[in-house]
Amino acid sequence: MDRYFRKEKFIDREREISFLKGWFERVPKEILWLYGPKSSGKTTLIEYVIENELFEDFWGLEPRGNYWVRYINLRRYLISNYECFIEAFVKPKMRADRKEERLNARISLGIFELNANILKDVRERRRDIFREMERELQRIATKSLPIVIIDEVQVLEDIYINGERELLKEFLNFCVALTKELHLAHVVILTSNTIFIDRIYNDARLKETSVFYKIDHLGHEIVKGWLASEGLDEDTSMLILDYLGGSIHRIQRYLRERENIVELGAYLKEQAFGAYAEIVDELRKIDNWKREAFREIACAILSEGYFKVSERDDVRLAEAISFFAEKELLFYDPLRLKVSAMSRIYEKGMELLLGDGEEVKGCGK
Ligand SMILES: Nc1ncnc2c1ncn2[C@@H]1O[C@H](COP(=O)(O)OP(=O)(O)OP(=O)(O)O)[C@@H](O)[C@H]1O
Ligand SMILES: [Mg+2]
Repeated sequence: MDRYFRKEKFIDREREISFLKGWFERVPKEILWLYGPKSSGKTTLIEYVIENELFEDFWGLEPRGNYWVRYINLRRYLISNYECFIEAFVKPKMRADRKEERLNARISLGIFELNANILKDVRERRRDIFREMERELQRIATKSLPIVIIDEVQVLEDIYINGERELLKEFLNFCVALTKELHLAHVVILTSNTIFIDRIYNDARLKETSVFYKIDHLGHEIVKGWLASEGLDEDTSMLILDYLGGSIHRIQRYLRERENIVELGAYLKEQAFGAYAEIVDELRKIDNWKREAFREIACAILSEGYFKVSERDDVRLAEAISFFAEKELLFYDPLRLKVSAMSRIYEKGMELLLGDGEEVKGCGK
């Protein structure tokens, strides 16, 4: 049976949904990190789970069972300093008679409420925001199970509460306290920035208090089933898979535009050329050694499917991987020590790169 979410067909994610449902039924003991390549569907998945699994009636703000859910996507705010963070995160507690302000479910979900006087002290740095939020959650946890979900947490990097206190560090300490130490609340953190995860993963304290769960692009069988349900024949599906892989948003775009596409092969080649152009545009602006590193990685990706990171790598290679990951061309998985293309179309772009504008199979050496 097809599922719909925000008026669009919601594709698969059975395994991920059942993992998350199971996770929330357990006692909170670790922070859950959802990571994966750019646009793999992390935000859509968690929003689907919130609206359909964590709420009985999302728009009526009636949570399922004893859940108490807060979800904040930090990308939706321009957080450049501690003051902006407070503005985005906490609001003064509203009086019960001002119900109309609670009508918008999405907005209400992104709000932590603190007593107005306490919030004033927090704003003026006389009280610690996380200590106060912890107190508030302790109160809530007497009746409910709090679930706190933060998307795009890397936005908090490089922000300081004052001269030396780093906001992100204090926020993560707060998350460790809520889960591992107090078993008070579930904390789910999402990010597609794995260079950021890499830094976290190498922090021993966080590593042992975190579980990392990858949300990848769709698998081939799922895509085949999806395309068949859209009325595409086997050959067409195979061609689409070859170029777009399991990238949901690229496939959706093709399906939206297909009425106007005269020749599928030409359309897909154009997409590949677009990825190639993105790569070339980055490569032409950088030093030779970084460019060579990219070619070496691309070569391994095209012949093996991925580039394996090892402790013997030149330090410059690590620098190059971080650079291209930040540019969203490569995806680095620090848990598996593998580097891959951000999505299948970038492999097609790499084929063009190694063939000097012509598609090559393998690494074209
Ligand atoms: N399971 C799904 N079914 C249908 N559409 C989906 C699904 N997952 C993702 N999408 C669509 O794919 C696009 C990208 O998804 P989304 O923004 O959730 O990815 P993301 O991993 O959060 O991206 P980012 O790395 O930028 O944070 C969205 O337009 C969304 O509508
Ligand atoms: Mg997202």
